[in-house]
Amino acid sequence: MSTGPDNWTKSSWKKFTALQQPNWPDQDAVDKVLTDLSTLPPLVFAGEIRSLKELLAKAVTGDAFLLQGGDCSENFSHVTAPNIRETLKVLLQMAVVLTYAGGKPVVKVGRIAGQFAKPRSADMETIDGIELPSYRGDMVNCAEFTPESRVPNPKYMLKGYNMAASTLNLLRAFTRGGFGSLQRVQAWNQEFVAGSPLGRSYDRLGKQISQAIRFMETIGISADTPQINQTQLFTSHEALLLQYEEAMTRQDHITGDWYDCSAHMLWIGERTRQLDGAHVEFLRGVHNPLGLKIGPNYDLDDVKRLVEKLNPHNEAGRLTIITRLGMKNVEKVLPPLLREMKREGQNIVWNCDPMHANTYTAKTGHKTRNFNDILSEITCFFETHWSEGTIPGGIHLEMTGNNVTECTGGAHNINDEQLSSNYLTSCDPRLNAEQSLEVAFQIADMIRS
Ligand code: PEP
Ligand code: CO
Repeated sequence: MSTGPDNWTKSSWKKFTALQQPNWPDQDAVDKVLTDLSTLPPLVFAGEIRSLKELLAKAVTGDAFLLQGGDCSENFSHVTAPNIRETLKVLLQMAVVLTYAGGKPVVKVGRIAGQFAKPRSADMETIDGIELPSYRGDMVNCAEFTPESRVPNPKYMLKGYNMAASTLNLLRAFTRGGFGSLQRVQAWNQEFVAGSPLGRSYDRLGKQISQAIRFMETIGISADTPQINQTQLFTSHEALLLQYEEAMTRQDHITGDWYDCSAHMLWIGERTRQLDGAHVEFLRGVHNPLGLKIGPNYDLDDVKRLVEKLNPHNEAGRLTIITRLGMKNVEKVLPPLLREMKREGQNIVWNCDPMHANTYTAKTGHKTRNFNDILSEITCFFETHWSEGTIPGGIHLEMTGNNVTECTGGAHNINDEQLSSNYLTSCDPRLNAEQSLEVAFQIADMIRS
């Protein structure tokens, strides 16, 4: 039975420096929660994780496209049926547009059912001269700026597990039970096209998709075939809280391999990807597909070593590099990375996160991102891949199905003053449902022309 790579155990990360971990006040309480978590059922099972890896292997060669999206940070109080439904709905709508335009399957992965822990730029936050521990996500402490709320509470890890379980339960029901049937999703797309100020530019593509569906019906592919009536959404989050991730890690009975069963896919953030750090140590040993965030100031040797360490057998589908470079930097800093990985023959899913390096503070003080900047990063990402002869394999968005006003621009041209009307995020600004669909239609245009 294989156990894991050399000297790896699910606890070996403890011998390394783990950044961004909470300072729990009561170690006994933490241990009790971790014992409970390690005996609870896994949230996902190894067979599903392996299927995702196989699908991602297709995105390496351009035979599938990865659509990864959801909240920057999920909140316990937002885990409701309407919120889960609306996020799923917009992801499915985007997937139909991208599938038709790209002529290849779209692998749907939510930042959902576990995205409850956040890295912070500072341990402490100061407001009006009062200094308190930073908010680290609902799985650690509360966002409210009071001394009591900011104390890390390990019971929130257990609550996070339960929230993830109920989210997944509903997602599985929706995706299996006909909610996401192709006809319904396309009807929603037609509603979007009809209601968008830019409707006309999306109209043609919308009509073509509807015609393709009618054609399938005409030749007898009925609405209740599973390919039409059912869909699949995988889950992902940043593997940040290593105690939680370790407690959710199980050995698969069939293969003997270790899987982190808190989600199908896990990623390592820009702030915790140190080569000799605890996050890299932990993730190198689990067999899930991994994401690796890379920002504009990366060191090429460092990335090469990370790739070698996280995917030593160059297994396709194992590693997705999520570039988050900033629209001004892509043209300059993406080519050297692509060239080197291509030269080494590395199997990588190249995924574009056009959000994290395009954040700025609006006049009103809101943390925001502009729709056109996001689109420029995406366009430049595709064009750079095409000119380098590499494959643009996916996009990674912070988005929601709700009608929030967190990012400026888009067809309704949200301006700085309008940001406060429905600004709900507890962390980074998300694209709303319309802005997300616009991104999908714009990418569709780009990949078809
Ligand atoms: C995130 O994805 O919310 C995040 C914190 O990203 P990054 O690690 O790329 O900054
Ligand atoms: Co974010």
